[in-house]
Amino acid sequence: MGLKAENVFKPGAYPKYTYVSRNYEDTGISYELRLKQALRTAGCLTSLIGPSKMGKTILCEKVIGFENIVEVSGADFNGEMDFWAVVAAKVGLPYAGEITTEREAAEEYSTERDSRNEKFVLSKDKVIQYYKENDKVLVIDDFHYASQEMQMKMAQQLKDAIRRELKVVVVSLPHRSDDAIRQNADLSGRLSLINIEAWKEEDLKEIALKGFKQLNMTITETVAEKLAVECLTSPQLMQYICLSICILLEDKNEETVCAEILETAYKFTTVNFNYYDVVNVMAKGPNTRGKRRNLYRTKSGKELDLYGLIVESFAKNPPEMELDFENIYNRITQLIEEEVKVPDKQSVKNHLNNLQLILKEKEEIYRAIEWKDGKVYILDPLFLFYLRWGRTHE
Ligand SMILES: Nc1ncnc2c1ncn2[C@@H]1O[C@H](COP(=O)(O)OP(=O)(O)O)[C@@H](O)[C@H]1O
Ligand SMILES: [Mg+2]
Repeated sequence: MGLKAENVFKPGAYPKYTYVSRNYEDTGISYELRLKQALRTAGCLTSLIGPSKMGKTILCEKVIGFENIVEVSGADFNGEMDFWAVVAAKVGLPYAGEITTEREAAEEYSTERDSRNEKFVLSKDKVIQYYKENDKVLVIDDFHYASQEMQMKMAQQLKDAIRRELKVVVVSLPHRSDDAIRQNADLSGRLSLINIEAWKEEDLKEIALKGFKQLNMTITETVAEKLAVECLTSPQLMQYICLSICILLEDKNEETVCAEILETAYKFTTVNFNYYDVVNVMAKGPNTRGKRRNLYRTKSGKELDLYGLIVESFAKNPPEMELDFENIYNRITQLIEEEVKVPDKQSVKNHLNNLQLILKEKEEIYRAIEWKDGKVYILDPLFLFYLRWGRTHE
């Protein structure tokens, strides 16, 4: 029995058959080796930071292994949660109520008689001991999901725990100025820092080549390169698109990934994503309170205001995750019908400012783009992919 496509291409889980190893910051060593090194540096906490869906969790699972990894989420630590209660529960240890009497505990472990404190210390020690004896590594994933207050409390607990050589990896998103780990003076000198970067096309290509080979399907380098461009730095998107291709080809009883199937596969892939509301909010812009906006006729005969044009400009070829202002402005003027008067630059800038303000106020999913220092950064590759393939086009 051959492998099934869904076991080879896994957009939402550990990709056993399509795992690709990358180079760490052009050092010539792999991310895997870097993480191994960090984990073997006793008394240090590993801080793993990188954009969403760039393979942080998968890297931990690969290096630590499913036998030894203990994954908790920042979201598990909200409200009045006791840090050690969560850490203990994850490995099935009873944290509270383990000690029969507080007196007993105090006698066994210490001469101090502050029994309340004693009980706490004892339990925490046992948890750490269990982790060490069983080669467990605690991975606190999506640390940023924990409340600010909780993050500070956790950092405090971790400082003590790593000194006792508990192995801990804290995984988080970049650019959090409020970073309770990396900005924490108490932890300085006790951190192994690992930054996960966006994926390069050559590594993304490898996912496709590897997977289709496993499935005994053929794909040329050129087609794989095209896919890599369209994935916009996202290994997850590559996994999604390849799976879509398999499903489409199976339906036709074909085994060659030809260039002709790609567009259909892209569109087919976008049905997984729901950015309908995000696009709407962006294209509508702020409430005009009844005032009418300037409309521009596009080459394809649509009437769009400047917000609509800005959104369309992102979707144009080539797909880019970072667009400077001139680039955006050129894209906009190219969308507009020749004889129509083009908007002036200041006006486009004002509209981008407004857009930034609207998105900042909304939920996380709306923060798909950021307009900062004269550039638009597309923060979410899946969003740009949706813009390009998920709608009818200009
Ligand atoms: N090294 C890799 N090789 C192949 N695919 C990967 C790799 N890392 C991540 N992926 C793909 O990307 C998806 C998201 O990765 P994940 O580790 O969950 O991202 P993060 O934790 O950074 O948000 C995975 O489910 C997998 O499909
Ligand atoms: Mg993750």
